[in-house]
Amino acid sequence: MRGDIERVLFDGQAIHKRLEEMAAQITTDYADRELAVIAILTGTLMFMSDLLRRIPLPLKLNCLSVASYHGKTETSGEVLFKELSVPDVAGQDVLILDDILDTGHTLAAVREKLETAKPRSIRVCVLLSKRKQRARNLDADYIGFEIDDEFVVGYGLDFMERYRNLPYLCVLKKELMDQSNQ
Ligand code: IMP
Ligand code: MG
Repeated sequence: MRGDIERVLFDGQAIHKRLEEMAAQITTDYADRELAVIAILTGTLMFMSDLLRRIPLPLKLNCLSVASYHGKTETSGEVLFKELSVPDVAGQDVLILDDILDTGHTLAAVREKLETAKPRSIRVCVLLSKRKQRARNLDADYIGFEIDDEFVVGYGLDFMERYRNLPYLCVLKKELMDQSNQ
């Protein structure tokens, strides 16, 4: 796998340092409240587990499985809910966790769906946010790192379902991505 990597953007230490700061902010913002965390699988697995263990608040956790990508690096725009039942978050303080904010399609769709359940509040927390013009007008309330508009993998994020287990965030070699985009 090492040979596939162009460069590392954030190593494990940098990620954990940033998670400490994010967790502290969330803990302050939701003091005396109970959080209803909705994590979007699968890319959010490492982020979810490392962030939530740093938040000493009462919280409930639900995971949603959605699909907006079909193996390649471009978004399809269509967001499919693999799990039909959406958790009942009526009257609750919802925090949606996702790995990366790219076009905004996924988070906009999840947010809209959860809003129909009439929660008390909804906020969005992402590990990464790409600096770009988004297809959907959506901003995250908590952002780990802002990055340029390039495809990243590792720490939960995949390219064709691979590289999720890398303990850092990195960019793959261009020829590797070009090959599979043909
Ligand atoms: P969006 O709907 O375009 O905002 O992106 C939604 C999903 O696409 C994310 O939750 C990721 O699973 C995937 N995605 C977008 N950009 C990247 C990337 O750079 N690397 C890996 N996955 C990505
Ligand atoms: Mg993916």
